[in-house]
Amino acid sequence: MAFPEGFLQELKMRNDITEVVSPYVNLKRRGRNMVGLCPFHGEKTPSFNIYTENGSFYCFGCGVGGDVISFIMKIENLDYVDAVKFLAQRAGMELPENSYDDSMSKLRKRIYEANREAARFYYKTLYQPLGKEGLDYLHGRMLSDRTIRHFGLGFADDDWSSLTTHLKSLGFSENELVSANLAVQRRSGNGVYDRFTNRVMFPIIDLRGNVIAFGGRIMTDQKPKYLNTSDTPVFKKSENLFSLNNAKNAGSRTLMLCEGYMDVIAVTQAGFKNAVATLGTALTTEQAMLIKRYADEVIICYDADEAGQKATARAIPILRNAGLLVRVLTIPNGKDPDEFIKSQGADGPEAFKAIIDRSGNDVDYRLQKLKADFNLDVSDGKVGYLEAASRIIASIQSPIEQDVYASKLCKEFQIDKNAFKAQLQKLNKSRYREDYRKQQQKIRADLSGRGDRVDTDKAKVPRSSSAEEALVVYLINNPDSAERISGEISAEQFQNSLMRRYYEYFLFRIKDGKDALNSVSADFTSDEVNKIYGMLRKYASVAQTKKSLEEYIKVIREESAKPKHDEVGKMSGEELNDYLRKLREAKK
Ligand code: UTP
Ligand code: MN
Repeated sequence: MAFPEGFLQELKMRNDITEVVSPYVNLKRRGRNMVGLCPFHGEKTPSFNIYTENGSFYCFGCGVGGDVISFIMKIENLDYVDAVKFLAQRAGMELPENSYDDSMSKLRKRIYEANREAARFYYKTLYQPLGKEGLDYLHGRMLSDRTIRHFGLGFADDDWSSLTTHLKSLGFSENELVSANLAVQRRSGNGVYDRFTNRVMFPIIDLRGNVIAFGGRIMTDQKPKYLNTSDTPVFKKSENLFSLNNAKNAGSRTLMLCEGYMDVIAVTQAGFKNAVATLGTALTTEQAMLIKRYADEVIICYDADEAGQKATARAIPILRNAGLLVRVLTIPNGKDPDEFIKSQGADGPEAFKAIIDRSGNDVDYRLQKLKADFNLDVSDGKVGYLEAASRIIASIQSPIEQDVYASKLCKEFQIDKNAFKAQLQKLNKSRYREDYRKQQQKIRADLSGRGDRVDTDKAKVPRSSSAEEALVVYLINNPDSAERISGEISAEQFQNSLMRRYYEYFLFRIKDGKDALNSVSADFTSDEVNKIYGMLRKYASVAQTKKSLEEYIKVIREESAKPKHDEVGKMSGEELNDYLRKLREAKK
């Protein structure tokens, strides 16, 4: 997987990290570095830093970090080889021939091609006699041929080999079809069969226009209602949205977030071209950040049923934390957007527009929902409601916004605004702020868990882990001391397996005369890269002297001389004595 070192160095030199990042992040200078709002998590104050002196970046909010290549991998959702190609092209550089293994990159390309051909095939089938059932179904759901074409809908027939046979005739291998999840390996291991049969097909298209996956709906009440492509080398359902490729061109900074394929299609057909949907899972932070790149405001258009309302409550803080304004659509009579529009016949578009105009923002929505929990006809109920409502209002960050809702509520219930404000102030200072902060912290922890999700040994062996971490950083920053360090500490003495891998890797590179960090984004997973850059940041303001090096070495020796807990129990008397002697020696 290796590109020549010289090539990588030149690539990085010719792709100044500040210039590469600028189109994605609004950067401001702060001392020698640049800062901005992190594009990988939602935040209101900048914690995304660029370190020009070594061409790296790190976000203190979510723990994402790396070099210019890892930045492009993350923001453009590319694998290593494609990110290098992207940057080479940007800098007008030729790629060195045959010097790298791009088999993964080639496979991804083949999967895109296979998916495109599959989409064509499904679409064509829809308009053949074989596809009549599918076409009737879609027409029955009030979709026009124009809409069907616009979304490239199709039909997978009842035969378990139609698509596979077709794609094989175009030169695709069984392995490629299985990797694309268009076909499934037979249990016997002998041959493959179509993954989708007897379903109407919805292609999922990414922002570059590649067909990345499919959803297929059965036309009866059988289950599963929708079958979706599993995650493949080109598709992660938690990071994509249905129809964002269309919605981003709608010329609006507002997106309508729906629950399903059919809702997006019905809403689009009704003239609202800015609709997207998650792909059968709860909204993720990644999806919210993706939305934030194309919108400032989201209208949640989930089903009016209980599941939809729960999903709404979950989505609100995720969207808010991504820095988006949120409105919530209330659809009458427990319907989803598709059913609602259809129920209005020719007036569908207008009626839908009317409920959009009536949709309140997330705070309105929560205050409204809350009313159901109290009997507002009696004083006790009113007091209870107002107290609960004041907690919601107190959790709003902006004082201006707080004031607007306070005024509205006081007017609605004809109560003294000063009294209500005093109540708010009390709350502002107390635990509800705290709740909000905790919630934020949790989201941050979830995100930065990226770092420690990979370092699972740290909690088990904290003392050795921190010494080993410090030693690895020392090694990266002081490559000249590699000989000496490796003479003192062997990789086997590391207790933390991740740190051991880092240690072996960096020692090897340095001894091989290479720049320690040049190729980390090729050789480690994205979480592992984040971790490395997080470690470097942690020690950036700590002077690591020769003396601290001695201390790291001492701790690592002590810790490595200790047997694991379960080992002590199993020791014979002689072994135990031996162990204690070693321990005393290490202390010297
Ligand atoms: P719904 O059950 O609300 O279906 O699922 P829907 O969107 O109203 O679909 P129609 O109108 O009955 O055709 C919402 C979304 O959840 C995912 C799909 O993405 C669907 O659009 N889903 C649902 C699945 O992935 N699998 C399922 O079996 C069901
Ligand atoms: Mn529906």
